[in-house]
Amino acid sequence: MDQGSDSLLENLRRATTALLDERRPPFSLRPELQQAAECLHRSTAGSFHPADEIDRGETRTAHGLCLSPTMAAMCADDYVRTIVFLRGLHRAILDALVDPPRRPVRVLYAGCGPLATLALPLLSVLDESQVRFTLVDIHHESIASVRTAVQRLGVGRSVADLVAIDALNYRIDPGNPPDLLVIETMQACLAAEPQVAITRHLAAQAPDAVLIPETVRIELRLVDPAAAFGDADRCEAEEERLGPVFELSRRSLSSFPADGEVLSGASVVLPDPWPGDLQAMLFTTIRVHGEHHLEARDSGLTSPRVLALDGPVRPGDRLRFSYHLGRDPQLRCHRLEP
Ligand SMILES: C[S@@+](CC[C@H](N)C(=O)[O-])C[C@H]1O[C@@H](n2cnc3c(N)ncnc32)[C@H](O)[C@@H]1O
Repeated sequence: MDQGSDSLLENLRRATTALLDERRPPFSLRPELQQAAECLHRSTAGSFHPADEIDRGETRTAHGLCLSPTMAAMCADDYVRTIVFLRGLHRAILDALVDPPRRPVRVLYAGCGPLATLALPLLSVLDESQVRFTLVDIHHESIASVRTAVQRLGVGRSVADLVAIDALNYRIDPGNPPDLLVIETMQACLAAEPQVAITRHLAAQAPDAVLIPETVRIELRLVDPAAAFGDADRCEAEEERLGPVFELSRRSLSSFPADGEVLSGASVVLPDPWPGDLQAMLFTTIRVHGEHHLEARDSGLTSPRVLALDGPVRPGDRLRFSYHLGRDPQLRCHRLEP
């Protein structure tokens, strides 16, 4: 590690220490997140060039859309998301360290992108006696970029492996299973990207691993649409919660069929009469680990979406939700006959 790498690691450590300081609300830490992201970009030493066409290099597989390396790097800018994931994963590593392991905690991170945004900052504050990451991404360009960054930062002893592979083809060594499984290949409402498929595939091979995120829940609420994207207090006042309609967690995975393409969600009856001018919307909430969670308006991943039905939403409708895996994974809703 040369002099420049030394100060790069030190700068990343300083920024990460601030990001992990739980006395500071994530919303107040944008400058520190930008400093960390700048260190990550510099650590790739030009082996990763963000493209002008940000979707150049994306891959469509039988399990969904894999964001391009440029867009994956841009996810860091969804800064409250990034900070809450870093805090949740950091806490999960510390928790696992005092659990039976008494050895470095093994983390499998699927979909790490070109900056390994949820790993490299933590490697600036944890050492190889505490954690060992296996980093996986479908894009060779991303893995090459992370390889350079790991070398440049001098954190190679905390990296067990770097693998360019579709995570749906990744086989976990049963003799060396991860303690933690980190997967962030998602959008709001678990649309388009293969979060559900990857989680199901990897969680089945590592039944004791803690999932990060722990739970992704989609809820149906009736809200004033103006307030849903604006003032939080007003939104609380105006909304009516109709309950969770789909969840991705250890608990829900155990209830899904091992290889089915359609996963059952909940059924919901809409109120009759309809309350005022409220609109049916889907809200995603993400519990990363313990108390670290993301609510609506915290992140692009939890941005509310209008409920899509074939035809208008009517008072008294009975709705059935199901999650469809495949090329265009998505939560679907259909009306049951009265
Ligand atoms: C939404 S980006 C997130 C990047 C990074 N994990 C973060 O949180 O900032 C998703 C990443 O997952 C990768 N990815 C998506 N599907 C994948 C798959 N089936 N196998 C491996 N990597 C995948 C994409 O290439 C991309 O780098």
